[in-house]
Amino acid sequence: MDNNTIPVMEPDRQYYYMNLCKQQLLDLRTKLNRSVTYCVTTFGCQMNAHDSEKLKGILDEIGYEEIEDEKADFVIYNTCTIRENANLKLYGHLGHLKKIKQKNPHMIICLCGCMMQEPHVIETIKTKYKFVDIVFGTHNIYKLAELIYKHYEEDELVVEVLEKNDRYVENLPTKRKYSFKCGVNIMYGCNNFCSYCIVPYVRGREKSRTPEEIICEVKRLAKSGVKEVMLLGQNVNSYGKQYAYDNDKISEVESDNVSFPELLRLVCKVDGIQRVRFMTSHPKDLSDELIKVMAEEPKICKHLHLPVQSGSTEILTKMNRRYTKESYLELVTKIRKAIPDIALTTDIIVGFPGETEENFLDTMDIVEKVRYDQAFTFIYSKRSKTPAAAMDNQVDEAIIKDRFSRLLQLVNKVSSEQTKRFDGLVKDVLVEEINHQDNSLVTGKTDENVTVHFKGSGELVGEIVKVKLNECRGFYYLGERI
Ligand code: SAH
Ligand code: SF4
Ligand code: F3S
Repeated sequence: MDNNTIPVMEPDRQYYYMNLCKQQLLDLRTKLNRSVTYCVTTFGCQMNAHDSEKLKGILDEIGYEEIEDEKADFVIYNTCTIRENANLKLYGHLGHLKKIKQKNPHMIICLCGCMMQEPHVIETIKTKYKFVDIVFGTHNIYKLAELIYKHYEEDELVVEVLEKNDRYVENLPTKRKYSFKCGVNIMYGCNNFCSYCIVPYVRGREKSRTPEEIICEVKRLAKSGVKEVMLLGQNVNSYGKQYAYDNDKISEVESDNVSFPELLRLVCKVDGIQRVRFMTSHPKDLSDELIKVMAEEPKICKHLHLPVQSGSTEILTKMNRRYTKESYLELVTKIRKAIPDIALTTDIIVGFPGETEENFLDTMDIVEKVRYDQAFTFIYSKRSKTPAAAMDNQVDEAIIKDRFSRLLQLVNKVSSEQTKRFDGLVKDVLVEEINHQDNSLVTGKTDENVTVHFKGSGELVGEIVKVKLNECRGFYYLGERI
């Protein structure tokens, strides 16, 4: 290849490689006399799901056809490493793929995402899973086409994992799962270093996109029919902050950048956007201004995901969460005062090192006091490099299991009671899909993120309609359109 013709600038460079891959795929299609397929499997959070839409956009552009079957010719696993079981899941899947690949010599297996940022994982893949073809991390997903082409040329394992996120390439094709709702990255990475969490190590330093870039993307989405956007960041409340880095020390520096509440106001101004959601809010820097904007802007959904992690101030301190049980409860009181009908959801970790029964009872207590609409509960998992992994008083497995089941019971009780509070109300519901079990029903979400099933046909998908919530079935409703 004549290197002089390869564009240096992005995204031109990637479009150039997409074209080369397109040619190569056409040849393969002719040779096989059939379409060539891909399957993207996503583990992990909304960030990863959104990244997968970018991967699919590139593969579609190249000419692959999407199927939901791991027998596809091009299989990608977009991995998560938040807990150990996420890792084990991947290795399980890979064992299965090996057999499929033996039957299809054209099959390409590609691994990407958070787990690939860990050096020991790359070593394991190189030694135990030699049938893998392409590996890359979280910082260069935009390069998929270039890496596919490199694999095609070199015909051996291509590994490109970058340590830092030094550039963001936008304006590449994406394929949205839903035509009417979409995630929008407003920031990347995380600077919080909660002591149990691996995200800052695998997603790199926190960096906000400019408001201009974000608004431009939201306007483009609105024009193409998107009604609901979900603004994505590990901690959206620190959107716009600037930092100075001195070796391991991170300090915030003064700036007059647009803040998160200001960004929300700008997003709400975009014509065509009818609902705005965001994820995730760290309680330590949820501002009064944010509460005010949420109360004032009708487009912002009355739902706040506010991970508490633990109800014990002692554990919260060890977790480096930078709030206390009391300050969290005060924050909740303030939010409920300004937005009385808001739905609050949370994440909770059980069995953090050194958690005593008394600490755990504080967690139970905070669940009773806050009365969450939904709570995602996790058993603490030791992650390499994190400070908590080196703490010596890890909790006994049997004790954790017992606490976890007590917490789950309480959480289920509280959230089904909370869900009942909408009984008989009429709510705007964004219809997302035809019901999988009964195709005379459609399924959608209220502003508060409550799931509702009601009689209706496929034409309603993507529409916001008024629905009476007739019958509460635990965590969801059966309703009727009015
Ligand atoms: N940025 C988000 C969380 C992203 S990770 C926030 O700060 O809220 C999603 C959830 O996974 C976390 O809220 C936490 O509850 C859980 N989690 C993270 N690390 C974990 C670990 N090592 N063990 C168990 N759960 C963990
Ligand atoms: Fe992890 Fe804490 Fe960052 Fe959330 S805020 S991603 S829990 S380090
Ligand atoms: Fe998992 Fe990475 Fe998200 S570790 S939770 S996919 S940021």
